[in-house]
Amino acid sequence: MNIHKSGARYSAIVGIGENLRRLVKETGEEYLFLNRGVNAVVPIDLTEVIPLIDFNAPAIQVYPPNSGAPNLKEAVNRVYFHNKTDTDLISVSGGSMSALDQIFTMLDVEKVLLPSFYWGAYANICRIRKMPFDVYHTIEELEKRLPELRNSAVVICDPNNPVGNKLSDDDVLEVVRKLSDNGTVVIYDSPYRRVFYDEDDDMYVKLTELPDVLIVESFSKCVGLSGQRIGFVWSDDPEFIREFNLRILYVHNGVNGFAQQLVYQLLTSEAGRKAVKVFREKTTEDIRKNIEYLRETGILAEEFYKNSEPKGIFAIANKSFDELLEKKIGSVPLDFFTRDNKEKAKKYARLCVSVPHEKVREFFSRF
Ligand SMILES: Cc1ncc(COP(=O)(O)O)c(C=O)c1O
Repeated sequence: MNIHKSGARYSAIVGIGENLRRLVKETGEEYLFLNRGVNAVVPIDLTEVIPLIDFNAPAIQVYPPNSGAPNLKEAVNRVYFHNKTDTDLISVSGGSMSALDQIFTMLDVEKVLLPSFYWGAYANICRIRKMPFDVYHTIEELEKRLPELRNSAVVICDPNNPVGNKLSDDDVLEVVRKLSDNGTVVIYDSPYRRVFYDEDDDMYVKLTELPDVLIVESFSKCVGLSGQRIGFVWSDDPEFIREFNLRILYVHNGVNGFAQQLVYQLLTSEAGRKAVKVFREKTTEDIRKNIEYLRETGILAEEFYKNSEPKGIFAIANKSFDELLEKKIGSVPLDFFTRDNKEKAKKYARLCVSVPHEKVREFFSRF
């Protein structure tokens, strides 16, 4: 059969997970899976939330509106934008992967700029959609490259995947403002942020004041529901949102109604808000302790956090994948996340630090 091949590759991280599961089976020993990209301190407890959902309601049983359920969009406006935006500028997505795919397909730009350490899917989506990409090493570098970036889009991921570093919001806003003034599109894709910030966070409100900024948000990490495949996109450009909604319609025929009503309950009901609060408190507490422990033991690769704060859910270890595996710790070699200086990057590994603290102590005390 003649097909169009994309040249994209399956995530090698999946292969690492499969190999670890095989090792567990063969040796009967415990391994610590820090190779994954999800919060695993605790699952979110939905016991008190599920009874609030009416499974007989049309919102669950019938095709959803293509831009998203109105009740969910209003809740998103309140929780993420302090009711300061127009709900028509919010589109519910089937998670950020598909939202980014639509965005990279829709944008009429020369190239997309990714952070030099980037989530591999960005590059694979670019390959599938034939969107050229380049990288930037610091946000200050973006300022120096403004003339070159006039007709480009820049992805900002903060806290970053894979490094787990958090930049100062003021510094990010200053650069986004300069990019926006320059006519550069900014894609603010920071799904790890709201693990650490609650609804008082006004970063999105500040971003909405700047033209040509796209906010891409996901409920995969901040409420631990990556299985539900849901998120949202915000743009100040009604034409962008109209086209985005059209593509949701003709590619997905709307976003899963159950996932939308579940997230609606998490954002609005007492039981839902409590479940999110408990999930975030437990998750961030152990992430904080894990980073502190890696710091105290000299395992955190401090050179990655010079002008930023290690915040998670990932951290970089100054140990290689093989050194960690010897101690039965799963990780991802850092060279998987970059195209510059791969030989140097191989000496480091990305750890998911969103796991129970006692496990991190138990396994890392082997060093
Ligand atoms: C930086 C970044 N953006 C987006 C996503 C995708 O999230 P979703 O589950 O909503 O597709 C991930 C998932 O790992 C990610 O790391």
